[in-house]
Amino acid sequence: MNTPSSSSHPRPVLSARGLQRSFGAVVAAADINIDIATGERLCLIGSNGAGKTTFVNMITGYLKPSEGHIFLGDEDITQRSPREITRRGVARSFQIPQLCLHMTVLDNMLTALHSSRGRTQFLHPARDAASVDESRELLRRFGLQDQAHREVRELPGGVRKLLDIAMALTGHPRLLLLDEPTSGVSADEKFSTMDTVVQAIEHGTDRAPVTVVFVEHDMDIVRRYATRVAAFYSGRVIADGAANAVLNDPDVQRHVTGFAAPAEEVSA
Ligand SMILES: Nc1ncnc2c1ncn2[C@@H]1O[C@H](COP(=O)(O)OP(=O)(O)OP(=O)(O)O)[C@@H](O)[C@H]1O
Ligand SMILES: [Mg+2]
Repeated sequence: MNTPSSSSHPRPVLSARGLQRSFGAVVAAADINIDIATGERLCLIGSNGAGKTTFVNMITGYLKPSEGHIFLGDEDITQRSPREITRRGVARSFQIPQLCLHMTVLDNMLTALHSSRGRTQFLHPARDAASVDESRELLRRFGLQDQAHREVRELPGGVRKLLDIAMALTGHPRLLLLDEPTSGVSADEKFSTMDTVVQAIEHGTDRAPVTVVFVEHDMDIVRRYATRVAAFYSGRVIADGAANAVLNDPDVQRHVTGFAAPAEEVSA
């Protein structure tokens, strides 16, 4: 097996090797091999059902691959639980935010903080002054300080998305996976939402850089925010590289973006 240590490049923060996963006859992951370097903003693109969430679920321990291995640095985390993987510095947000709708924004943050410390499996807010300070600081970085005492059910989709991502940062992850951070966000708020997320992640901490993997369907967002793009189709990665190269790839245009006419049609 080709382990991450056998590469001559700097050691990736995360490596996937030969990941496979099927659901009945549906192949959701077929021989996926990806190295993610520290500080990258890797965007996963692909049409509905292509296997993006399956990949995120495997990396974060929510789904076990039937074959293959996942390395976090040198450690094989393939069989680790989501909780163990989170404790090692991998955090995620979900395609649909996982929030307590009847709690306030601040209490959701305090609950995430409590959970990230792994002291208990029961969900309740940490109430000590240091936790409140840390939560308020994270809310400030995401521009949510004025919403702290509002119940989540009163808030629009964009604010819920930001809160979900802010909650994922409570454990100071080194790798953050965001499954469709702009879904449910209105078209005119997508760029400002992503600006907020990127600034909060990159400029809000003096700790080591956070590596980001995000799933996105809007190609304008992909072009503006991704430092690298991996295109999924039918459980496979069909292109992986710089955004321009991947978005101009004929297979990606045929199976993912669908927006470029084939050359013969252009010249006809
Ligand atoms: N738990 C599951 N049980 C059965 N089939 C599943 C399960 N999870 C995913 N699949 C199937 O695996 C394939 C890949 O799904 P996945 O959710 O990874 O796609 P996706 O790229 O995230 O799509 P979307 O853009 O719609 O979120 C799909 O055909 C999906 O129906
Ligand atoms: Mg998905």
